[in-house]
Amino acid sequence: MLKVSGLNFYYGESHILRDVDLTVPRGEMVCLIGRNGVGKTTLLKNIVGLLKPRQGSIQFDGHPILNLSPDRRARHGIAYVPQGREIIPRLTVKENLLLGLEANPNKPKKRDTAIPDDIFELFPVLETMLTRMGGDLSGGQQQQLAIARALMGQPQLLVLDEPTEGIQPSIILDIEAAVKKIIRTTGVSVLLVEQHLHFVRQADRYYAMQKGGIVASGPTHELSNEVIQQFLAV
Ligand SMILES: Nc1ncnc2c1ncn2[C@@H]1O[C@H](COP(=O)(O)OP(=O)(O)OP(=O)(O)O)[C@@H](O)[C@H]1O
Ligand SMILES: [Mg+2]
Repeated sequence: MLKVSGLNFYYGESHILRDVDLTVPRGEMVCLIGRNGVGKTTLLKNIVGLLKPRQGSIQFDGHPILNLSPDRRARHGIAYVPQGREIIPRLTVKENLLLGLEANPNKPKKRDTAIPDDIFELFPVLETMLTRMGGDLSGGQQQQLAIARALMGQPQLLVLDEPTEGIQPSIILDIEAAVKKIIRTTGVSVLLVEQHLHFVRQADRYYAMQKGGIVASGPTHELSNEVIQQFLAV
């Protein structure tokens, strides 16, 4: 589904990503772990097209995508929920959700009826808040809205950057459950950056990053306490 090979990225002269190889198989959840500032967000931004690497290749569904803009990548099925969520505070929940349709290749013409029920089955709280301003939602609700908005584009790959950062534990479990359900019901693949061990363990595979390079990877059931202590802030 997604294949990153030999990726090198620089901010100016600082070498941020070093020879990164990473694969996300279809229908799987892959988790990228690593301490603050090692380059996790930078890697995701390269994948979704917000940053351009100096070297390397990225293939999606067997096609090279490095020359595609973020919009084109979105329409090819790559949805991105950035760190810090970036929902639009002065639009309502419904308007925020409808923005997600822009990436949808099967975009319905009548926008009014366009929010599918399965979005509300995943995130029931959103249905009760459709007319509320995005900025008035709690952090956890905003995160749910951001993921729901990404799903409105009917993506094939969902890229999530620390979806549980700063969110209370009960909502973390809700978000975790929703992500698992999304994978089960839609067959979407997920690439996740995460610090919460419980959530990390839900993934099929992990990659651990240090100083911009991948230094360990494997099935999450093989994730040792040593690796966890080295790469997660637990
Ligand atoms: N716009 C920028 N210009 C220059 N350097 C940057 C820029 N954005 C990030 N960096 C640097 O690149 C490195 C990697 O940052 P990045 O945000 O990818 O880390 P991260 O692993 O996502 O960290 P965190 O866990 O804190 O989110 C850091 O040293 C950071 O200071
Ligand atoms: Mg980050």
